[in-house]
Amino acid sequence: MDMKDIPQSFQGIDLLWSEGAAYNIGFANALATWAPALTPGGYMVVSELSWLNGQAPEAVRDFFRSGYPDMQSVTHNAAVAGRAGYKVLATHTLPRQAWVDGYYEILAPRAKALLDHPAAAVRVFAAATVREIEVFQGSGDSYGYVFYALQEDRTAV
Ligand SMILES: C[S@@+](CC[C@H](N)C(=O)[O-])C[C@H]1O[C@@H](n2cnc3c(N)ncnc32)[C@H](O)[C@@H]1O
Repeated sequence: MDMKDIPQSFQGIDLLWSEGAAYNIGFANALATWAPALTPGGYMVVSELSWLNGQAPEAVRDFFRSGYPDMQSVTHNAAVAGRAGYKVLATHTLPRQAWVDGYYEILAPRAKALLDHPAAAVRVFAAATVREIEVFQGSGDSYGYVFYALQEDRTAV
């Protein structure tokens, strides 16, 4: 189903958990859309790619200017959650190693092997993947996946 329709199909949700997906309908929009589907005092855990320290190298900012221009800081997203009717219980940033172990360490050589693939679309995709990993390696931990652990708190808005 389309995640934007959750409140039309489900009510009284005790815990809504969404990893790396809310951005598809916009983080702020997702939080506002899903709030009415939670039971009063219910919980939501949403992970979102976020700026971590305001010190991203220019190449990183450049990459995300087109890659994910809507990326926001943790402080900004916590404020968004507050305005959408949630208490922020905790945030948790995925460690750097979580991007590497079993993911980039496998993806990088596979993408490089496809850089001279006969199909142009494959070459373009492979090059974009290689670039994404280079950007990550030079990012200085300036961005990451942050889990926002929230509790519905309509009285706060
Ligand atoms: C980056 S993936 C994350 C998937 C999974 N949660 C994980 O952590 O591996 C984002 C997912 O959102 C799904 N998606 C995109 N727009 C959606 C929508 N409007 N409603 C429901 N799912 C959607 C995509 O199909 C994709 O599977």
